[in-house]
Amino acid sequence: METKRVVIKDVKHPRDGELLEAAQILRDGGLVAFPTETVYGLGANALNEEAAKKIYAAKGRPSDNPLIAHISGEKELAPLVAEIPETAKKLMKAYWPGPLTIIFRKSDKVPYGTTGGLDTVAVRMPSDPIANRMIALAGVPVAAPSANTSGRPSPTTADHVWEDLSGKIEMILDGGPVGIGLESTIVDVTGEVPMLLRPGAITLEMLRELLGQVDVDPAVTGPMSPGMHPKAPGMKYRHYAPKADMTLVEGGTEAMAAEICRLAQESISQGKKTGVICTEETRHLYPESLLGQAQFRSMGVRAKEETIAHNLYAVLREFDDIGVDRIFCEAFPETELGQAIMNRLIKAAGHKIVKV
Ligand code: TXA
Ligand code: MG
Repeated sequence: METKRVVIKDVKHPRDGELLEAAQILRDGGLVAFPTETVYGLGANALNEEAAKKIYAAKGRPSDNPLIAHISGEKELAPLVAEIPETAKKLMKAYWPGPLTIIFRKSDKVPYGTTGGLDTVAVRMPSDPIANRMIALAGVPVAAPSANTSGRPSPTTADHVWEDLSGKIEMILDGGPVGIGLESTIVDVTGEVPMLLRPGAITLEMLRELLGQVDVDPAVTGPMSPGMHPKAPGMKYRHYAPKADMTLVEGGTEAMAAEICRLAQESISQGKKTGVICTEETRHLYPESLLGQAQFRSMGVRAKEETIAHNLYAVLREFDDIGVDRIFCEAFPETELGQAIMNRLIKAAGHKIVKV
């Protein structure tokens, strides 16, 4: 199949004329990748089981991993869910449209093909003007996982989507680089106490400020142990993963940089192509000699964690592209946005963490 790429001229104010063909493809049961404020999504009509199946095939994704249904306005929610709990109303008022996915009990209208056989449905209302308007024009809820091949880092530019999915989907809407760079926060409101299933730009601190008690699914923080069933099935896979073998190093900045230098030297001496992920604040801690032998990338500014979130997946993909064998990466404090950053890095490293 030939994939059509539509470049949106003014990404803040897309014209309907640029989005109508995408909307038609979605209504006809086809696949369209589109930008959101978090990462690029791969969309299909969420009410059409056959269309949802095509998403799993294009991504090579296990079919027990449920999809998020994206809507453009609040009145599109009621038909998809069995009830709207008070907690959800508060969350929606505070954070929709935006990078927050809420888990509801599903209505009969939502096929099990979309929810991976679950009786619940994940719903999100993106704020990105292209995503929001495309969904409105399609007139159907849009099921959309991240638009990457399953197991690869999530796409934050249209080029990333093109690398993974060209030839497999009908269209890519190119809206330039996304804003946030990490997937949405997921909160389950079907139980007594709301539960964080995946950390994101709406942080645990923000959720607790709004709702009081919020529990955290153990899969968010710890490694998966046998018999453990994370509430978001996607959390059990080694997702977000670069091809290289990655190690995270945690500690005070100087000790951390010293340990990374030691590990990188060792890896280089074994003939391995070696990558190091540092930050603007720590770059100077690495000696010139090492800078010449390893591939160095700064992920952004520690004091502005949103820059780290924004660059995280692009740096992992870049290391894939140049074919590094081993990556050593600095860790971050696990508070506020740092919780989401560390959740993704820990998974990318397959839980390989060195503490100094
Ligand atoms: O930011 C995002 O959420 C992006 C953009 C495209 O909106 N989408 C995204 O989708 O990250 P995906 O499929 O890559 O991740 C969806 C996650 C998975 O971990 C999945 O298991 C979980 O949401 N999920 C979906 N439906 C669920 C449900 N009913 N109960 C629990 N977890 C669910
Ligand atoms: Mg994903």
